[in-house]
Amino acid sequence: MDTYGSTNDIIKNSIKDLNLPEKIKIFDTTLRDGEQTPGVSLTPDEKVEIAINLNNLGVDIIEAGFPISSPGEQEAIKKITSLNLNAEICGLARAVKKDIDIAVDCGVDSIHTFIATSPLHRKYKLKMDKEQIINKAVESIEYIKERGLKVEFSAEDATRTELDYLIEVYKNAVDAGADRINVPDTVGVMIPRAMTYLISEIKKEINVPIAVHCHNDFGLSVANSVGAVEGGAEQIHCTINGLGERAGNASLEEAVMSLKMIYGIESNIKTEKLTEISNLVSNLTGIKNQPNKAIVGENSFAHESGIHAHGVLAHALTYEPIDPEIVGQKRKIILGKHTGTHAILSKLKELNYIVGENITEEQFNEISKRIKDAGDKGKMITDLDVVAIVDDITDRT
Ligand code: KIV
Ligand code: ZN
Repeated sequence: MDTYGSTNDIIKNSIKDLNLPEKIKIFDTTLRDGEQTPGVSLTPDEKVEIAINLNNLGVDIIEAGFPISSPGEQEAIKKITSLNLNAEICGLARAVKKDIDIAVDCGVDSIHTFIATSPLHRKYKLKMDKEQIINKAVESIEYIKERGLKVEFSAEDATRTELDYLIEVYKNAVDAGADRINVPDTVGVMIPRAMTYLISEIKKEINVPIAVHCHNDFGLSVANSVGAVEGGAEQIHCTINGLGERAGNASLEEAVMSLKMIYGIESNIKTEKLTEISNLVSNLTGIKNQPNKAIVGENSFAHESGIHAHGVLAHALTYEPIDPEIVGQKRKIILGKHTGTHAILSKLKELNYIVGENITEEQFNEISKRIKDAGDKGKMITDLDVVAIVDDITDRT
């Protein structure tokens, strides 16, 4: 890992006393929370295509959808469960028998059941007291277990719930048979340090694996998920491209790569497939990634300034934290107003123009000037533009 230059002594020393897992499990909710992205609605066949790709990517659990939500959703989940993929196929259900019955009917391996626990949700949404909520959770977990399925239990809005009550809810859930518990930061209000504390407090009282589900309302979802792993979480909920309600969920590609490359924590994800699945999900959902999106964005491994391009051409790690191929990307040297001589020489070489062989020094200077002039006018110079400039200057047409 050190060869990528992403782990240094500062990081090593800062995490040396933590009891970190060697490997984490990835619970992907692109097809459930991700599909709750405003404006996104996938057809059953599109959901199947994404599920197959998530399985090939190596995710451990695919939350295929929320079966009660529509007949189309049930059709999609049934198609996915009939594929017998390696990944565990999970369906979401409120702590309500009719939701659970429909999920069971879809043939899922496990049910992710949830009920809100925070004072806000108790008072304004559920109009239930603390005890009624625990009873509902316990009843639903027992009902699922009687049907022979695995249960993951979530206390919705866990991070705005009184800690002692939250722990009581989770203890009851585990006693009722929950195989895993999930801690949702439903409106993304946590900070990494608080997430570490919360998970370590819950872990003292609970003996089943703990998952986290972090929303991105303040842009902290990946940091909070990583903070949760520092506190002892063994599974994280993610979505491809960070899709999800409002500002989305923790992005799978960012969480997996930061845990792998910075902490040295592995997962079953085949990271070289990350860019491909990101593009697939972007095409099928119609939600484009910003160019500067970490790991899978168009610009994540693109260099324009002369200083950076020179550095990267001399040794890639000068301005890249990891080799782009690890995540299925390619390094790009972009020509524009910040471009320097090394980048232009390298681009010309890539296009088979060599100074001293088929172009002169004088022509090279003129080519550089034309590229920079175009960059000054706000243009991004493509390979075709470079060929046109060279042809014009050398009169090769
Ligand atoms: O954000 C949330 O709380 C959820 C629950 C259904 C777990 O998505
Ligand atoms: Zn959510």
